[in-house]
Amino acid sequence: MKIGLIGTGRIGAFHAETLRDSAGVDAVVVADADPARARVLAKKLGVDASADVRSLFAGGLDGVVITAATSAHAALIHQALDAGVPVFCEKPVALDIPSTIGVVERARSDSVPVQIGFQRRFDQGYRAARQALQAGELGWIHTLRAITSDAVPPPADYIPTSGGLFRDCGIHDFDVMRWLTGREVVSVHAFGANRGASFFRNADDIDSYVATLRFDDDMLATVTATRYNGAGHDVRLEVCGSAGARFVGLDDRSPMPTAEPRISWQRLPHTPPTWNGSTTPTSPSCRPSSTLPPAERTAHAPRRRRSKPSISLKPVTAPGAPGRR
Ligand SMILES: NC(=O)c1ccc[n+]([C@@H]2O[C@H](COP(=O)([O-])OP(=O)(O)OC[C@H]3O[C@@H](n4cnc5c(N)ncnc54)[C@H](O)[C@@H]3O)[C@@H](O)[C@H]2O)c1
Repeated sequence: MKIGLIGTGRIGAFHAETLRDSAGVDAVVVADADPARARVLAKKLGVDASADVRSLFAGGLDGVVITAATSAHAALIHQALDAGVPVFCEKPVALDIPSTIGVVERARSDSVPVQIGFQRRFDQGYRAARQALQAGELGWIHTLRAITSDAVPPPADYIPTSGGLFRDCGIHDFDVMRWLTGREVVSVHAFGANRGASFFRNADDIDSYVATLRFDDDMLATVTATRYNGAGHDVRLEVCGSAGARFVGLDDRSPMPTAEPRISWQRLPHTPPTWNGSTTPTSPSCRPSSTLPPAERTAHAPRRRRSKPSISLKPVTAPGAPGRR
């Protein structure tokens, strides 16, 4: 297959490399509104670059991956469907509701497949929680708690194109809660705040929010997000029901240091993800690990992969005994 990729920024570079290494993909051709950026990535990965999006489609494609800035998604999806090319597009579909509905209606009436990048639907933890709910193991859900906490903010120049914290980050939580429960939201209350860098405010954005949701079966949910989680990258969904619960995203790397002196929360070192491979802080609250005290530095050391993540919550046998780290 010959796959085109449009948008060679951070996530585009990631997807292009995955495509290049995927079985069944014979050729990858990349394009960007900035042709120089496309050429640089193509050279780095050893794939081809097109001068622009029009010539990318003109060259004939078996599929296209859209990883351009959010504001370009809707038009590019329509362009792909005009060309009869199956599309995978990163979230969100569009910046506003009318454009989103326009794409959904077009995709419904077209036989060409369109998929949007809501990857949590394919994550084992979310799938297991959904199965448990559908099997009746959780009873009725009284509370959903969704958390998306980035350790460090993205670069300032990304924020004006991002669509804002709700569309950029919260969208994953809003999507997966509906997908997991099969219910629709009937009311929402939300507060947002900007206590971090002023570039959020300057782009009419926030860096943290709390939202409360009521679903059509009276299930209640809270959703929180922040760009500044000093403890580390933390993405969880807590599905709490009358008969049981499942906690998605909870493992021994979860950045949840307990304050309880007699409890040792066994966890692997946690590393906040970086943007463009940089650990440069954009706020005083996000310091590179080299500037942290030794204890915190350990908590920010690189993650080690483990085949089987395990969790243990162990009482320490004697006061003062060393807790496991
Ligand atoms: N699913 C996820 O978890 C996830 C994660 C990261 C990013 N994303 C989404 O991916 C998209 C890109 O994010 P990013 O962080 O890579 O941004 P980025 O700013 O690093 O890159 C965007 C690229 O798109 C290019 N571009 C803009 N308009 C274009 C157009 N009309 N035609 C062709 N190229 C165009 C820009 O020149 C730039 O190279 C965003 O919509 C974002 O929401 C999704």
